[in-house]
Amino acid sequence: MVKNCHNKFPTIQLLLFISLFYFSKAISSLVSTGGWVDKAMHIGRTGMFNIIKKKWETWSVKENGSLVNDLRRRGVEDAEALPGYHYRDDALLLWNAIQTYVAKIVENVYDSKKKLVEDKEIQGWLQELKEASFKGIPDTFKSTDEVVEVVTVFIFTSSVQHAAVNFGQYNQYAYPPNYPTDLHESRPTNKEPLTEDYLVKALPNKHQTTDVMMITDILSQKATNSLGDFETQYAYDKTSVNALISFQGELKSISEIIKQRNNTRSNPYDILLPEHIPNAISI
Ligand SMILES: *[C@@H]1O[C@H](CO)[C@@H](O)[C@H](O)[C@H]1NC(C)=O
Ligand SMILES: *[C@@H]1O[C@H](CO)[C@@H](O)[C@H](O)[C@H]1NC(C)=O
Repeated sequence: MVKNCHNKFPTIQLLLFISLFYFSKAISSLVSTGGWVDKAMHIGRTGMFNIIKKKWETWSVKENGSLVNDLRRRGVEDAEALPGYHYRDDALLLWNAIQTYVAKIVENVYDSKKKLVEDKEIQGWLQELKEASFKGIPDTFKSTDEVVEVVTVFIFTSSVQHAAVNFGQYNQYAYPPNYPTDLHESRPTNKEPLTEDYLVKALPNKHQTTDVMMITDILSQKATNSLGDFETQYAYDKTSVNALISFQGELKSISEIIKQRNNTRSNPYDILLPEHIPNAISI
């Protein structure tokens, strides 16, 4: 059970997730010097930020942010070759629904290429992304397809993908041998059975364990409305209102499909039920 534990910790997901909170005051005690990450995780905040920095350097909107490209490049897109990958199956439904919704709005606003090319605000936003070192984005927006892709990646990542990463954390981490965040002994170097004495000394101690349970429980709370149920309505024109109504209808059907799937799954996976997905990264 624990022989591979050193391969599993610390997990990138938890690290990336915590990093999203970096600028949030409420949660600064998580990543401050001597804070939760320093206490509960082997690599501490310095190690965590190093890993995030390294990963961020290779993260591209087009390659990694776009779900279809990401599944393809990881070689997991084929549902026949790899059945039972619930994240892929549910997330694809949601990706397509978000993309359709975004396309309706974007194509309505930019009904000519000239409007898009000459819109200083949308082009300025793209330059801001470049300055913030986002990769895999065009130099300028020349077609609505390009806008739709970038906007879909942002909405998908901060709603669907965030939910997938976030809401499984308590299940994954609260039992330390499953995902130990720390190791107090040297790593096992062979496959010989480990002694109970070693395990007890090596695994996170009592304080770390309760800390991990508490934090992952807090992180799992939903603090905004669900996807497609916006707190503020900004667009009142007919096309935008209708696009939202069909998006909400589509999310209802997706919910039914996922509930059906849940009935036949050997392990339930209802994390990506649209009504469970917050519309933003919100804590
Ligand atoms: C993004 O995709 C590229 C190309 O497949 C890959 O080399 C890189 O490791 C990925 N980065 C992340 C953070 O997943
Ligand atoms: C999914 O299935 C599990 C176990 O069969 C059940 O406990 C859970 O309520 C189901 N969730 C939904 C949303 O149907």
